Order: sequence, then structure tokens, then C-alpha cells
Amino acid sequence: MGKLTVIDHPLVQHKISLLRDEQTGSKEFRELVGELAMLMGYEVTRDLPLKEIEVQTPVSMAKTKVIAGKKLAIVPILRAGLGMVDGMLKLIPAAKVGHIGLYRDPDSLEAVQYYCKLPSDSSERDVILVDPMLATGNSIAAALDLLKDKGCGHIKLVCLIAAQQGIDLIQKNHPDVDIFVAVIDDHLNEHGYIVPGLGDAGDRYFGTK
Ligand code: URA
Repeated sequence: MGKLTVIDHPLVQHKISLLRDEQTGSKEFRELVGELAMLMGYEVTRDLPLKEIEVQTPVSMAKTKVIAGKKLAIVPILRAGLGMVDGMLKLIPAAKVGHIGLYRDPDSLEAVQYYCKLPSDSSERDVILVDPMLATGNSIAAALDLLKDKGCGHIKLVCLIAAQQGIDLIQKNHPDVDIFVAVIDDHLNEHGYIVPGLGDAGDRYFGTK
């Protein structure tokens, strides 16, 4: 079973509270999503493998460490996932970025794919899949299917707010994926929104409502 990590760092929890507040406008919402992506990215990259190198300091040679292992791709699910890309890239500037476009059919709540563009060398990369909200889990599970079809390496899923139902679906269908969330909320409403959640993450980020 993939690991489930709730990132309960005080800064993360504080920023999630600000994000939830309906009084928080798009400008601040965008800043918060970026900051949260960076803070969570710090934890998500904690187990990256290192290799030892030697560097000449002004004083002497130093045995020191740099990131080794597979290269990374960051893949946001459009459109709300876009907000988490820059924060992650600040930590992992050499990562390539793919995009997966999925929308939820409002009646069935099933995921429908409308866009997919991944790095050409995806099969040589581990992937950090980002989407602020893990609700039913249908669209994220579909995105994970797609990434696996393309032969991507190990996948980590990073979401800000999750519902247990969505976590259960991902753990059932994709037990090899490690999941990172800031908080697990109570339940979903009849429209598939997380309660209490933060509303529609894409609308709040882009100011489209
Ligand atoms: N997507 C959102 O943006 N919000 C939810 O609560 C669920 C899915």
C-alpha cells in the first residue's frame, strides 16, 4: 500500500485555514496555493535519493551530497492543479511539466479527459501529480491511469484538501501511489464538493465566479 502522509506542519495548517475562508480573494488565494505547494513540496521531496560528490571549497575539498536518481516531472490536473506548479518548481527547477485536462461530468461525476501532454521522456521520470482537491477521486484515478499508460515511474500525489472517500478510491485502484495531503475533511456533498472544503478551487484561484 502506498503511504498516506498528512502534512500537519503549523504553517501548512495556518495557510489552509486562510484558504478556506470565503473572504479570501483570488489574489491572496493564489499566493496561498503557491506557498502551500512549496511547503508541501519540501515534505514530498524528503526521500529523494542523494549521491556523494566532491567540491572544492575556498578552504579544502568537501565530500558533499546532491540529488541523484530518476528525474522528475510535475503534472498538474487542469485547471486548479496549475496553481501548485510554480511552488513545486521553485524547489525542483529542473523538473519538466506535463498537463492533464479532465473535467467532471456534473451528472455522473465521472472524469472525462480533454487534454494530455506529458514530457516525451516521461517513462524515465518519477512524477509528482498535483491537484488541490481530492474529492471523489475519479479524475485523479483517471489521471493516474494515464500516467501509468505512458510508463511513468513512481508517482506521488499531492493534494491540499482530501475527502476520505477519495483517498479510499486511490488506495484501492492505485495502491502503489504515495499520497500527501494537508488535511482530510469530513465528507462530500451531493454535488461532489468537499465539506467543509474551500469551494471550487479553480473558480477561486482564477476568479471565475
Ligand atoms: N473540486 C473542487 O474544486 N472543490 C471540491 O470541493 C471538490 C472538487
